[in-house]
Amino acid sequence: MSTLVVLGIQWGDEGKGKLVDFLTKKADTVVRFQGGNNAGHTIVIEGEKYVLHIIPSGILHKGKRCIIGNGVVIDPAVLISEMDNLRKKGFEINDNIFISKAAHLIMPYHIAIEKEFEKGKKIGTTGRGIGPAYTDKIARQGVRFIDLFYPEALMGKIKANLSTINFLLENLYKAQPLKAEEIYTQYLGYGEKLSRYAADTDIIINKDIEGGKNVLFEGAQGTLLDIDHGTYPFVTSSNTIAGGVCTGAGVSPIRINKILGVMKAYTTRVGEGPFPSEIKDALGECLRQRGGEYGATTGRPRRCGWLDMVALKYAVRLNGLTGLAITKLDILDGIDSIKICTGYKYNGIIYEEFPKEIEILQNCEPIYEELEGWKEKTSGIRAFDNLPKNAQIYIQKIERILKTEVQMISVGQGREDTILLKELFK
Ligand code: GDP
Ligand code: IMO
Ligand code: MG
Repeated sequence: MSTLVVLGIQWGDEGKGKLVDFLTKKADTVVRFQGGNNAGHTIVIEGEKYVLHIIPSGILHKGKRCIIGNGVVIDPAVLISEMDNLRKKGFEINDNIFISKAAHLIMPYHIAIEKEFEKGKKIGTTGRGIGPAYTDKIARQGVRFIDLFYPEALMGKIKANLSTINFLLENLYKAQPLKAEEIYTQYLGYGEKLSRYAADTDIIINKDIEGGKNVLFEGAQGTLLDIDHGTYPFVTSSNTIAGGVCTGAGVSPIRINKILGVMKAYTTRVGEGPFPSEIKDALGECLRQRGGEYGATTGRPRRCGWLDMVALKYAVRLNGLTGLAITKLDILDGIDSIKICTGYKYNGIIYEEFPKEIEILQNCEPIYEELEGWKEKTSGIRAFDNLPKNAQIYIQKIERILKTEVQMISVGQGREDTILLKELFK
């Protein structure tokens, strides 16, 4: 058996989708275990671009099981439209998709209430209702996928939830209330379309593991957006770290074999929140343009910065990474001098461990080490030894600081623009 977790170790958009697609070649099953359609995972195959929000990035390969685990929050309208779009492009959406009966649903009132919240305390969410859906889950009033098949209970839950939400919408936010009957009918319709995919996904996943299959877990967002360990409150509402696989898929920690942390060769962040190594001058804009750094879900410009080794060391530890994947190395081609942040200075104190205090993260001065860049193009290179010498030095430096082996390097958007340094599946 072999299980591999692939997750982001910055603020999301590290290129997880691309790598999961690449690694799916040798996988049997690909599982999403947290997050929802706040994720936007881009895959480019023979020049054609696919952006997946909720279906695992393994779907573009034939004959692989794709599982949406219990830890995911599902907007059924988005899921159905994603399925339809993939079908139109000729991909199989049939008995290869399994949706956990226990996954919670994003309801229209989650989206409506989040819109109002965001007008006040700005987190810069994706506006997909993710936070409110997880709030209802934790408050034990959420609607689960299985509820779509029990109409009476479904109506009861919708009515109970709307009684509070409509009160807030009307009285506090002076917004339009929502109608229970409309939501009920709409969601029963979704249930009809999706019933064939309902499954006890924890059983399937564990049987696959026992049966010696290769199971790939696809993280969404990134470690610094983790609800417990990220830059709270500027985080998403799920556990994005490796531990999230256990709760979000129903898999024991002792069954996880490898954990690959995906990092860009620089850093980006979308939305609000601290970002110590952010580049605020023209070079930041230059990276944004070269890297196409615009959100795959919302289209918002991503903030760009240098690599932050303080944050990355934290991510290596929290996830227990067994390997690293570095993406978008090509975007640094031709940059004269590359910086890496090795510490934060705040009030005369130097921090080498990632602080919990937002105040420090927001106001610290990053301490940089400077490395010489490389002039040559890395796109098109397929072996580590053929990379420019300074790119090799950059990668080796990352390995040394993080005490973790670099196992994959990505030098372009396409499947083929990938250097695999170590086989991750047998
Ligand atoms: P994800 O959310 O982690 O899957 O990442 P996104 O898809 O949101 O953002 C990553 C972007 O970078 C996508 O547009 C990818 O096509 C692109 N990408 C991934 N790896 C590379 C790479 O090595 N080089 C370049 N130039 N683009 C890449
Ligand atoms: P992928 O999987 C980057 C960010 C939002 C916001 C915060 C909370 O593509 O890497 P939410 O809607 O989740 O409540 O927003 O989290 N965010 C992401 N940033 N990549 C993502 O996903 C993200 N998903 C959420 O921008 O700052
Ligand atoms: Mg993304």
